[in-house]
Amino acid sequence: MAFTLVPVSSDAITRAVELLRAGGLVAFPTETVYGLGADAENQEAVASIYSTKGRPSHNPLILHVSSMQMAERYGVFNKESIALAEKYWPGPVTLVVPRRDKILFFNSMSDEVDTVAIRIPDAREALELIDKLGSAIVAPSANRSGRISPTQASHVQEEFTGASGNLKLILDGGHTRQGIESTVIRCIDGQPIILRHGSIIPDKYQFNRSISSETTLEDAVLHSPGMLGSHYAPDLPLRLNAKNTNGNEALLAFGPLVARIATPIFNLSEDQNLDEAAHNLYTGLRVLDKSGCDGIAVMPIPEKGVGIAINDRLRRAAAPRK
Ligand code: TXA
Ligand code: MG
Repeated sequence: MAFTLVPVSSDAITRAVELLRAGGLVAFPTETVYGLGADAENQEAVASIYSTKGRPSHNPLILHVSSMQMAERYGVFNKESIALAEKYWPGPVTLVVPRRDKILFFNSMSDEVDTVAIRIPDAREALELIDKLGSAIVAPSANRSGRISPTQASHVQEEFTGASGNLKLILDGGHTRQGIESTVIRCIDGQPIILRHGSIIPDKYQFNRSISSETTLEDAVLHSPGMLGSHYAPDLPLRLNAKNTNGNEALLAFGPLVARIATPIFNLSEDQNLDEAAHNLYTGLRVLDKSGCDGIAVMPIPEKGVGIAINDRLRRAAAPRK
């Protein structure tokens, strides 16, 4: 697949819009992770996201919009979803709401999905891209399906070099600010439900604990198809809550090290700062995956704040692979 990587600039965004209009895919930075974007109103382009990523066809995509007005073109908002949008947008919160029109746009390869996931990203370049295109951009994380999400343009390049697909351009905006995907909240009827943890934790709402790594495909499709077992996975096996390394393991550390160990180490945050750890998580997994070790031992991460999302991603990265 022939794609280019350019620093993000106004000219680069203009070029990206031309490519999107022609049905191509463009990878772009958001505040969470890099997205693999297509024009939401071009069905063929959206279909090519699935083939380029190797994404299961039942898993719908998030629409990225630049204003509430644009969001309402695609989704139907109730009191709860409007309140959440007002509170968190632009920002790393995705709202799943009823879909406005089945004909107008495509975010899924399946006709059965009558809801749509929408967010306004808090990243200037992404907003400029959407504004110039004039319609929503559907974008999953810009990694091959099941693999580690990209937080740097070079990660996207690594994922798709030598692969076949429709990626035309990577806009390089440096390291993403947050480093972990958005919180997904379902606002259909009754109390909103958190489907995926992220950096923002609206404490008012319950997490849908019925979706675990053991959730069957059928159950998951009903709730949030992306919440399946193995995901975010490096090539090497992961061992969680490790106190030290065994054999030829690399160490994904959190906080100060008690002993000196002669193994490749990536420390997510020496100061035990969870935001810093979230920012570094995917880079750390990628670095250690290339260490030549036999596995990655991961030190315990506190189950609080964004630590909940970090542990969720780590459990999925450690889950049995299909
Ligand atoms: O931070 C993010 O959310 C990043 C950036 C690029 O915006 N995007 C991202 O997309 O993580 P993706 O495709 O990797 O994850 C989207 C999640 C999946 O778990 C998917 O199943 C869920 O959102 N989702 C999308 N549409 C849905 C819907 N209509 N109902 C329930 N879940 C939905
Ligand atoms: Mg993803």
